[in-house]
Amino acid sequence: MKIGLIGLGKMGYPLALNLRDNGYEVVAYNRSPEKTENIINEGVEGAFSLSELAEKLEDKKIFWMMLPAGDPIDDMIEQLIPYVSKGDILIDGGNSHFEDTKIRHSYLKEKGISYIDIGTSGGVEGARNGACMMVGGDFETVSALEKAFTDICVTDGYAYVGASGSGHYVKMVHNGIEYGMMQAIGEGFEVLSESEYDIDFAKVAKLWQNGSVIRGWLMELTEQVFLDHKENLEDIEGIINASGEGLWTVEEALRLGVPVPVIASSLFTRYRSQQKDTFSGKLLAGLRFQFGGHAMKTKDD
Ligand SMILES: NC(=O)c1ccc[n+]([C@@H]2O[C@H](COP(=O)([O-])OP(=O)(O)OC[C@H]3O[C@@H](n4cnc5c(N)ncnc54)[C@H](OP(=O)(O)O)[C@@H]3O)[C@@H](O)[C@H]2O)c1
Repeated sequence: MKIGLIGLGKMGYPLALNLRDNGYEVVAYNRSPEKTENIINEGVEGAFSLSELAEKLEDKKIFWMMLPAGDPIDDMIEQLIPYVSKGDILIDGGNSHFEDTKIRHSYLKEKGISYIDIGTSGGVEGARNGACMMVGGDFETVSALEKAFTDICVTDGYAYVGASGSGHYVKMVHNGIEYGMMQAIGEGFEVLSESEYDIDFAKVAKLWQNGSVIRGWLMELTEQVFLDHKENLEDIEGIINASGEGLWTVEEALRLGVPVPVIASSLFTRYRSQQKDTFSGKLLAGLRFQFGGHAMKTKDD
């Protein structure tokens, strides 16, 4: 089985190496040539254009995209159309919106091309050494690739989850849960930091990895943050970006009428973290001054 890996970013590059190490032939392509040159130096076959990539693949071509969600995926599909034919397979291993995936699946199905969606978890380290993959798409096509998915994932870290879009759907909810869990960890440690005790945060994060109810990878990473950074994290700015999946989880929950207060609140906390001051905060301070004469700090104070 020969796989054309498109997009050698933080995830695609290690995934290509993971596939290669598990005995799969990989041809790696990236929009800008430097990353392709780097991976060639690691012994992976490279291609500097999509036509070269297609030429180097077998008759039944498999393209695996690791690209940002949205337009880059649609653009890439259009660029690949001249090189794909009936029976070929396209995989989107990024964090695409499941509704976009369903549309792309139907569009390609009309042309006889299979479209598989993979929600990939485990970060960069997982992509390199064993990921967790939730896979959606037509069962027959996924079944034909199942061995490769199993090989590059950790034990029991691969599952077929259903029809087209379901892989990305399950990954979307996974990321929503991730938002909430991270938020709870952050808040818990903030309480510890304000407490009357002089607590060693790294020590507690390490302790909680062993036998506690809240043990897990996020707790390992929490320990690492405290080990890597200054006490009280003074060297980190508390700005948290949100790449979309938390928002999509909340939007879907609203559509379904499912209450998700924890995930919604952790999403809004991220938005709030990106603001220096807020219009609502200013207005509230002004209102309290108006009705009660409560102290209001102005810029001139
Ligand atoms: N990072 C993670 O922990 C993680 C985990 C799970 C899933 N994901 C998902 O996996 C996908 C890839 O993520 P990543 O972290 O690897 O991203 P990344 O490091 O930003 O890399 C993106 C890659 O896509 C290429 N690219 C961007 N726009 C393109 C376009 N319009 N046409 C062609 N190539 C384009 C870039 O090429 P250039 O080098 O030319 O810019 C780059 O190689 C995303 O959907 C992401 O949400 C990421």
